[in-house]
Amino acid sequence: MSDNITSVLFVCLGNICRSPSAEAVFRHKVKQAGLYVGVDSAGTHGFHKASPPDARSIEAGESRGYDFEGIVCRRVTEQDFEQFDLILAMDEENLENLMEKCPEEYQHKVKLFMSYSEEEEEVVPDPYYGGKKGFEYVLTLIESASDGLIQHIQTS
Ligand code: 4NP
Repeated sequence: MSDNITSVLFVCLGNICRSPSAEAVFRHKVKQAGLYVGVDSAGTHGFHKASPPDARSIEAGESRGYDFEGIVCRRVTEQDFEQFDLILAMDEENLENLMEKCPEEYQHKVKLFMSYSEEEEEVVPDPYYGGKKGFEYVLTLIESASDGLIQHIQTS
């Protein structure tokens, strides 16, 4: 893995809850840290294509000071594997799905986002069918993994 990380793509299933939240949180932390890293998000499926993030994700994120401006749902494309330095899956299903589509030469870029966190959780669980608490928990995990990734970028 190249340690020169200049772009990161966050990936979940629908690209309306977890990965857009990761995009909002991580771009905030990148700016705070004074780094220059391109940040985007996408879904392995396209059912919500062109939609804004889920209102519950926006509410939870904005209450912690994150900005969702300009974030629009899209599906992962072939070009993403070439274009991004890191492609971070929220859970094992997303990871498997990405690995099926990813050309072998780029597979080293595809990882679980939570591998950068010190939390015990190994994945960011899908909050879509649950309540508000789930969205708060998702944000807490995303903040932790984002801090770990920022630290990795700063020290590598
Ligand atoms: P996400 O959550 O993968 O975190 O965006 C979901 C969004 C939509 C659906 C499932 C999960 N859905 O079934 O429509």
